Amino acid sequence: MDSYTFDHQRTSQTLLTTSLLLLTSLSRVQTDSINYALPPANITGIPQEPSNNTYPNPEYARLVAYSLYFYEAQRSGKLPTNNRVSWRHDSALDDGKDVGLDLSGGYYDAGDYLKFTFPFSWTITTIAWGALEWGEGYQLANQTQYLRDMIKWGTDWLIKASSNTNNTNNQYLYVMIGSLDIDHNYWGPDTNIPNPRPSINVNSSAHGTDVSSEAAAAMAASSLLFTNQFNDSTYANTLLTYAKNLYSFAEMTPFTLYQNSAPQVKDAYSSLNYTDELVWGALWLYRATNDTSYLNKATSYLNSSSFKVKKVFNWDEKSGACYVLIAQLLQQSGQDSSKWKFEAERYLDSIIRPSGSCSLTGGGLFWCDGDSDDAALSVSLGAAFLCLVYAPIATSSAKTQAYIDFALSQIDYALGKNPEKTPYTIGVHPNSPQNPHHAGASGGTDISNINNPSQTLHVLYGAIVGGPDKSDQFDDIRADYSETEVALDYNAAFQGLMAYQMINSHSDPYYVNVTPGRPARKISSVVIIIIVILCLLFLIVLSILYWKRKKIVEWWKRRRQLRSNEKC
Ligand SMILES: *[C@@H]1O[C@H](CO)[C@@H](O)[C@H](O)[C@H]1NC(C)=O
Ligand SMILES: *[C@@H]1O[C@H](CO)[C@@H](O)[C@H](O)[C@H]1NC(C)=O
Ligand SMILES: *[C@@H]1O[C@H](CO)[C@@H](O)[C@H](O)[C@H]1NC(C)=O
Ligand SMILES: *[C@@H]1O[C@H](CO)[C@@H](O)[C@H](O)[C@H]1NC(C)=O
Ligand SMILES: *[C@@H]1O[C@H](CO)[C@@H](O)[C@H](O)[C@H]1NC(C)=O
Ligand SMILES: *[C@@H]1O[C@H](CO)[C@@H](O)[C@H](O)[C@H]1NC(C)=O
Ligand SMILES: *[C@@H]1O[C@H](CO)[C@@H](O)[C@H](O)[C@H]1NC(C)=O
Ligand SMILES: *[C@@H]1O[C@H](CO)[C@@H](O)[C@H](O)[C@H]1NC(C)=O
Ligand SMILES: *[C@@H]1O[C@H](CO)[C@@H](O)[C@H](O)[C@H]1NC(C)=O
Repeated sequence: MDSYTFDHQRTSQTLLTTSLLLLTSLSRVQTDSINYALPPANITGIPQEPSNNTYPNPEYARLVAYSLYFYEAQRSGKLPTNNRVSWRHDSALDDGKDVGLDLSGGYYDAGDYLKFTFPFSWTITTIAWGALEWGEGYQLANQTQYLRDMIKWGTDWLIKASSNTNNTNNQYLYVMIGSLDIDHNYWGPDTNIPNPRPSINVNSSAHGTDVSSEAAAAMAASSLLFTNQFNDSTYANTLLTYAKNLYSFAEMTPFTLYQNSAPQVKDAYSSLNYTDELVWGALWLYRATNDTSYLNKATSYLNSSSFKVKKVFNWDEKSGACYVLIAQLLQQSGQDSSKWKFEAERYLDSIIRPSGSCSLTGGGLFWCDGDSDDAALSVSLGAAFLCLVYAPIATSSAKTQAYIDFALSQIDYALGKNPEKTPYTIGVHPNSPQNPHHAGASGGTDISNINNPSQTLHVLYGAIVGGPDKSDQFDDIRADYSETEVALDYNAAFQGLMAYQMINSHSDPYYVNVTPGRPARKISSVVIIIIVILCLLFLIVLSILYWKRKKIVEWWKRRRQLRSNEKC
């Protein structure tokens, strides 16, 4: 691994601050030297020199390229000869054997070795959407071929994992490979992944509305890419057939949440509702076919009372994205889009001026209680993504500008304009996270001590970590999965946003001008209040002692006298 060591002095801390930090267990992992690894030589489209705000910007090209490289590092199955991630091997080749199928391939979900169809399909849909909007960004970064490979590695697996029929007696979709209990008791490289790895499906006798509709969306969105950008109409048509069949499976009644059929997914990726996916899948099929029956399905699900708007756009929540997508499709095909543009703007306005359970952190990060706790950046970047997709068709130029400004503020935050001076992409700056919660990259083998070794063995270039907490604090601790875990879905919106910046940004990403070294941890106001109270109590005790000093001295003398009397 090409790398050099970047020495830097931490901001000096006063003795008091240091001891208080220890006292309150708030100390961050201190490193005297941060390993700033150079990119692997064979990621194309990466800068070798300072980029000086040039256009097209080589640093944004690096971000587009690295994010795709992260997905390459997540590949499961037999790796192709052009695999660029030297520390990854062929793995989990027997997936599906338990059910007489070949279910090898696809992507590992996060820092572990499980495969989950629901968040993975959303990842594919979202990356495809970003590429349909900003495909030119991939071309400017010389990454179109890698983008194609990234999408196809996913859709090839979805082809293996789903039935290709619209016969409702005979449909299935595999939704999870592996066992939470077994996999989450393993920490180590991909050469020793524990078995068994059960294959879990939904099927005609126990179906799953949400996951089937999301997989349909992924296939339909990808088919558009293969037609429009990858010049492969044969494969595009295959994907479209799967998309239609998956959607017919999704519409099997009564609708049901997939974890009700496949309870094994419950503790990992339970779905909250399926109506948003029914709309979403139909809209992607409409976009891919121009068949108005899909548009009618989408609007009737949108009209139904079971469609509920949620602010977050992520693997589970697509309601706001549905408004944006339908407004976009109707506008582009010259149909009346006013009703949906109204809804889309009401939705986006509630994001750029958040209230209730969503807010901006002190540092300016879009935050939604609950969803942001383990995936702060995913929530922020998902919101930015929808703003940028919608901005060109907003009803006023003021709105267009407001959506763009909000999105750029979230991108800047993710790239280092935050109180921690941390670009939350791995491998781009000395302040980037060093300790992602990722078994394969860590080099560790001890599930009982994930923080060992202290130096991560392999740099997981391009991965976005979970992110900071609500007070913008980030402790780069590998065991703290809520802040340092990486996942397929965390990079999905980011991938598209970097393509957008490749096209639109005439300046460097924010981190280019961040001087190495994180600021010293500020002590939270609660801690200050506690310390002030303790000091006051101490002073009060001292004053009482001083005030009563004569009595105390007298009492002491009497005691000594008593004692000496006893001795005599
Ligand atoms: C990528 O580059 C590394 C050295 O930087 C080299 O060892 C490796 O063989 C290259 N891989 C490919 C697929 O070219
Ligand atoms: C993309 O490739 C072209 C042709 O090889 C090259 O001129 C250009 O600098 C590359 N772009 C980036 C961002 O590396
Ligand atoms: C950026 O500026 C430096 C110093 O002026 C120069 O050496 C370097 O070639 C420039 N890089 C690019 C990509 O223009
Ligand atoms: C089912 O698929 C077949 C082709 O495989 C097609 O002819 C038929 O119309 C489809 N049926 C429905 C209800 O979509
Ligand atoms: C697209 O693919 C077809 C057949 O594979 C080929 O004949 C054609 O030249 C390709 N077009 C472009 C623009 O690559
Ligand atoms: C159908 O799915 C249910 C739920 O996952 C499972 O218990 C059952 O074995 C599946 N049936 C088949 C034939 O795969
Ligand atoms: C949805 O509601 C609108 C009115 O708000 C109506 O014009 C449209 O026909 C409805 N669509 C469907 C498919 O129910
Ligand atoms: C989905 O949300 C709607 C609206 O809140 C609600 O009526 C419905 O019961 C929810 N569906 C499920 C499966 O929870
Ligand atoms: C759908 O129709 C529009 C014109 O309204 C056209 O631009 C687009 O290419 C068509 N899409 C497909 C998938 O046929």
